[in-house]
Amino acid sequence: MVGFKTVLLHSSHFRTDFKCGKSVLDDYLKFQASQDMKKRLSACFVCVNEELNEPVIAYYTLSNSSISRDFIPLEWQRKFPKSYKTIPTTLLGRLAVDVTFHGKGLGRELLVEALYRSYLASNEIGSVAVVVDPIDDNAQQFYVSYGFQKLPDSGKLFLAMKTIAQLFVS
Ligand SMILES: CC(C)(COP(=O)(O)OP(=O)(O)OC[C@H]1O[C@@H](n2cnc3c(N)ncnc32)[C@H](O)[C@@H]1OP(=O)(O)O)[C@@H](O)C(=O)NCCC(=O)NCCS
Repeated sequence: MVGFKTVLLHSSHFRTDFKCGKSVLDDYLKFQASQDMKKRLSACFVCVNEELNEPVIAYYTLSNSSISRDFIPLEWQRKFPKSYKTIPTTLLGRLAVDVTFHGKGLGRELLVEALYRSYLASNEIGSVAVVVDPIDDNAQQFYVSYGFQKLPDSGKLFLAMKTIAQLFVS
């Protein structure tokens, strides 16, 4: 979005007023995201004004992750060597936009950016898909509209890294 940039969360970022409509996601940004980053559990990227460097108007988190081979679609199971009991993936754990910016295309922009970061990382650290764990039916709808598919026996959705690569490699 013009006038805004996405950077890694820093203690100086103002986020007290952040409200996305889901309090659990607001609280995560305010009270837990910095701790998770220190522990290297997840990387939190925040969208802030380019010059002021605040306030946070949107964020997303990325982590390394894995899925048991029993929980991936059958056609995938056949493709991967049996020695892989778990399949490496990238978790897009959270994505949230402040309500004052809803419906302006920022959610889509950040989703594409998160997919691009995940794709670049997968060139150096293996990952066969981006996985999301939608907070509710609305969030699920949002991801499904971008091609995410359900993982069997779980509420999670995935988008294959091969498909993501096609978006960015000409
Ligand atoms: C879901 C969310 C990130 C979308 O952000 P946004 O900036 O409002 O979305 P955009 O303006 O980029 O919309 C992109 C597209 O998604 C659709 N969309 C937006 N929110 C949606 C929702 N909740 N359900 C289904 N579709 C949705 C839009 O209609 C738009 O479609 P179009 O391209 O065909 O017009 C935002 O509403 C939000 O922060 N919600 C609360 C937190 C949440 O549910 N996060 C989900 C991941 S856990």
